[in-house]
Amino acid sequence: MDLRIKSFDEYKEKYKQSVDNPDGFWDQIARSFIWRMPYHTVCEWNFEQPDVKWFLGGKLNITENCLDRHLEQRGNKLALIWEPNDPKERFVRWTYRELYEKVCEFANALKAQGIQKGDRVVVYMPMIPELTVAVLACARIGAVHSVVFAGFSAMAIADRVNDAQAKMIITADGLNRGAKQVPLKRVVDEALTHCSSVNKVIVYNCLDWSPNMAPGRDLWWHDAVNGMAKECPAEEMDSEDMLFILYTSGSTGKPKGVVHTHGGYMVYTAYTFQNVFQYEESDIYWCTADVGWITGHSYIVYGPLLSGATTLMFEGVPTWPDPGRFWQVCDKHSVNQFYTAPTAIRALMACGDDHVLSYSLDSIKVLGTVGEPINVEAWRWYHIHVGKERCPIVDTWWQTETGGIMISGLGNLSPMNPAHAGYPLPGIQPVLLDQEGNEIVENGVEGYLCIKHPWPSILRTTYGDHERCRVTYFSHYQGHYFTGDGAKRDENGMYRIIGRVDDVINVSGHRFGTAEIENAINSNKIAVESAVVGYPHDIKGQGIYAYVVCENIPEDQEVARAEIIETVVEHIGKIAKPEKIQFVSGLPKTRSGKIMRRILRKVAEGEPDKLGDTSTLLDPQIVEEIVSGAL
Ligand code: WTA
Repeated sequence: MDLRIKSFDEYKEKYKQSVDNPDGFWDQIARSFIWRMPYHTVCEWNFEQPDVKWFLGGKLNITENCLDRHLEQRGNKLALIWEPNDPKERFVRWTYRELYEKVCEFANALKAQGIQKGDRVVVYMPMIPELTVAVLACARIGAVHSVVFAGFSAMAIADRVNDAQAKMIITADGLNRGAKQVPLKRVVDEALTHCSSVNKVIVYNCLDWSPNMAPGRDLWWHDAVNGMAKECPAEEMDSEDMLFILYTSGSTGKPKGVVHTHGGYMVYTAYTFQNVFQYEESDIYWCTADVGWITGHSYIVYGPLLSGATTLMFEGVPTWPDPGRFWQVCDKHSVNQFYTAPTAIRALMACGDDHVLSYSLDSIKVLGTVGEPINVEAWRWYHIHVGKERCPIVDTWWQTETGGIMISGLGNLSPMNPAHAGYPLPGIQPVLLDQEGNEIVENGVEGYLCIKHPWPSILRTTYGDHERCRVTYFSHYQGHYFTGDGAKRDENGMYRIIGRVDDVINVSGHRFGTAEIENAINSNKIAVESAVVGYPHDIKGQGIYAYVVCENIPEDQEVARAEIIETVVEHIGKIAKPEKIQFVSGLPKTRSGKIMRRILRKVAEGEPDKLGDTSTLLDPQIVEEIVSGAL
């Protein structure tokens, strides 16, 4: 099932076909997968309700396409390489047959524990191969996985478990991250004091830590799989049955559960994986993301395995034991495609060139980035020192909600322009809209980035709250999916993503809603009210700047700051720690009580001379206080 486009001219041709006849275009691609029963209709949709369905009537199981169908020809091919946190520890290599057997075995264990089709299972695990097994085993029996990134706090887990009404959590005693170890089971135990839907917890023994095991509720992974058969027939799923829920932050306080389904997600992730990375049969592909984010779902697990690729999974961090770790792993496993985040590139760039120059990196053919805009300086460093000026860089723009890559170069086929994501993939019809929602058709313009036709892996709903899905993505501009990003289109029609235009902050490629962090801060008794904005940060892309209103400005501000940070860590996790906290006696508000975030952003950005008009404020004096106390 080679789905690859092989030249830029072919791309242009395919793109045109995909716009002229989207159904015919996707039908051709979808046919190459295994369907238990063929679909009768390619797509039915409206963006008003919204109601989008792909491959209607089709019956399949995505894991049959990831595993079973490769067994004959690729049974002995490596499916997964796992590189541990500690370079002195042994790595793991599983063939497609081995992965198949492990998934079946664990799928049988899930069934034995009472998990059935449609049940939700939360996965809170380290970046170990069993995480991939857990995810695929859920999909195999038709259970809905919801992976929660292992950096989230107990309260964040509880919110997600409760929203999804999950029946089970799969976790581990703890995880390794660089020189540190983190106790996962303890966090899960704490979360479970707030959840009533969970009746089973399966624990993988990663660190030999002997955590507390609640009798009747908790059981070890190795006991759960003991005696289980290594064959497990895949559950027959409808194309539109739910495959997974992945929670992501939006502009309101509560994270939303983005829902993806079996059929469309399968077709789109495989198609984009092969084309963007120009994956060839014997290549070794490495994406450094965590499976807890959409990038890991689509481009560590599903896209590569659907394509019969060898996918590398890494447990550790880029800077441990030293900042050459990524490059050492690339050389060690002869990695051909390397996909990472701009924040990692900037962090490594700051550690000096020596760490990268001591590795050959000969095997690399394609480099990729994802998660946030890449600045030209980081792009050049990546291009020169990692790609040795011979490898293309694919700057891939997409979102949790889009399921797969939307705008990007295709390996070495497409023209490159630093910091530009480039051209839309076939099947993707981006448009730029102005304030009033009119389409700006010419080039050399800037606007709100929207998509005007569905693609197979567009989100179907937000779990348990369809209205929220409609309001967030489909109500701003009628007949369009609104991305929340602003973008430019240059004279050649290439897209450059500018960043979020809503109240979402992108810290090291991780999304947080400002309201989500404000809610956490406000739960601390020090805070009367708060406002959170992003500001430019050299390594993280954006840092979190919090303005905290107090009745009396605390005498010991350091202690108060530490307390606020602690509260945020408790509610969300360490990844959401505010970098700067300024205590203030009030916030700039309009007469109708709306916080003027524009002003707060300018102060945080260090541009207090560019505040613009402040005459409509209720209390203009507060601005002086904020400017003079800026951090
Ligand atoms: C941003 C990550 C610029 C963007 C796959 C988007 C990017 C949000 C890029 C989605 C890119 C992602 N260039 N910005 N190549 N890729 N973004 O849901 O603001 O974690 O809306 O999905 O990240 O983040 P999410």
